[in-house]
Amino acid sequence: MFNIPVAISFTLLLSFPLIFLFAPQIFPSKHVDISIPDELDDLALFRRATLASIDGVGGAISRLGTTNPRMKIAFLFLTNTDLHFAPLWDRFFAGHDGRFNIYIHADPSARISRPGGRVFKGRFIAAKRTQRASPTLISAARRLMATALLDDPLNSYFALVSQHCIPLHSFDFIYNSLFTSQFPEYQSFIQILSNESYMWDRYVARGERAMLPEVPFDRFRFGSQFFVLTRRHALVVIRDRRLWRKFKMPCLNSDSCYPEEHYFPTLLSMEDPKGCTHYTLTRVNWTESVDGHPRTYLPSEISPELIYKLRESNSTYSHMFARKFSPDCLKPLMKIADNVIFRD
Ligand SMILES: *[C@@H]1O[C@H](CO)[C@@H](O)[C@H](O)[C@H]1NC(C)=O
Ligand SMILES: *[C@@H]1O[C@H](CO)[C@@H](O)[C@H](O)[C@H]1NC(C)=O
Ligand SMILES: *[C@@H]1O[C@H](CO)[C@@H](O)[C@H](O)[C@H]1NC(C)=O
Repeated sequence: MFNIPVAISFTLLLSFPLIFLFAPQIFPSKHVDISIPDELDDLALFRRATLASIDGVGGAISRLGTTNPRMKIAFLFLTNTDLHFAPLWDRFFAGHDGRFNIYIHADPSARISRPGGRVFKGRFIAAKRTQRASPTLISAARRLMATALLDDPLNSYFALVSQHCIPLHSFDFIYNSLFTSQFPEYQSFIQILSNESYMWDRYVARGERAMLPEVPFDRFRFGSQFFVLTRRHALVVIRDRRLWRKFKMPCLNSDSCYPEEHYFPTLLSMEDPKGCTHYTLTRVNWTESVDGHPRTYLPSEISPELIYKLRESNSTYSHMFARKFSPDCLKPLMKIADNVIFRD
């Protein structure tokens, strides 16, 4: 005879392994681990990019046989959704061939439709999974830089942007600001802050002494996730092993875990603080941030005044990019693209 309680316990017992099988779906894991094969892939890529860059722009220029080659900006798109603003970027890039390259790191676990626009075609690089609050975002940015370093020796600035970023100026304005204003001493535009109130929590996110000895607390820095680096600094970033060993450790406290906001500013402030502006060109509105996300602008807020306001900074420079915008902002942004955003 079938005993119902026994049958129930039997079923429970049988289903126990199934819980493990389906656990990742039921309880989504907080961490996408960086596997050893992934790490080795990256190391091989970084090594190739480093070796190829040893003769640097100088070598490339002499090979091209020209004394005045066109320097390029490498635009590095880091995304885990569709590139909603591709049409706006298309218009931004139109007519400037030969002065930029685009590279896209799209999370392979997300179903991303590839934008149809001419400039984005064939620009997707070999990508791996990314996740917020994990060092995978650092890996993705380094992968983009290494690929861009390898791809074109004339890539001289490396601008990291996300799918939520928009340009605040025309291509010419940005290009000329980057290449003419500081010549011949190019600097990286990256925010580097210290002494912020939450720094200690961020510092001990992997354990109180976990960052020692490479990163003592007084050398730990904070900065914006999106930045524009010189070629020299992109090389510094992909050659680094010392700090990466620390920053790739998973956090114990996920509330204070934003490795990508600390790795780049800490590394560059250690290696070459004078080579960095310490401010970012990407405007973000952190008032009323929700769950670690900055304010996201909605279509009803898009206006010429907003663009002018976002360009403003407390200094002599103008912001060049801004985030975040909800995907449906595309239409109102396209309406003011030619008359406002790209008019400067
Ligand atoms: C941080 O603050 C301390 C004390 O206020 C100060 O001595 C130190 O120079 C500051 N560090 C930086 C990098 O500004
Ligand atoms: C930033 O967000 C705050 C709060 O939502 C808002 O009051 C302010 O106008 C925003 N600033 C800009 C430049 O949009
Ligand atoms: C300018 O500085 C003020 C005060 O330090 C700050 O509240 C504001 O956010 C800054 N604005 C920008 C655009 O950085």
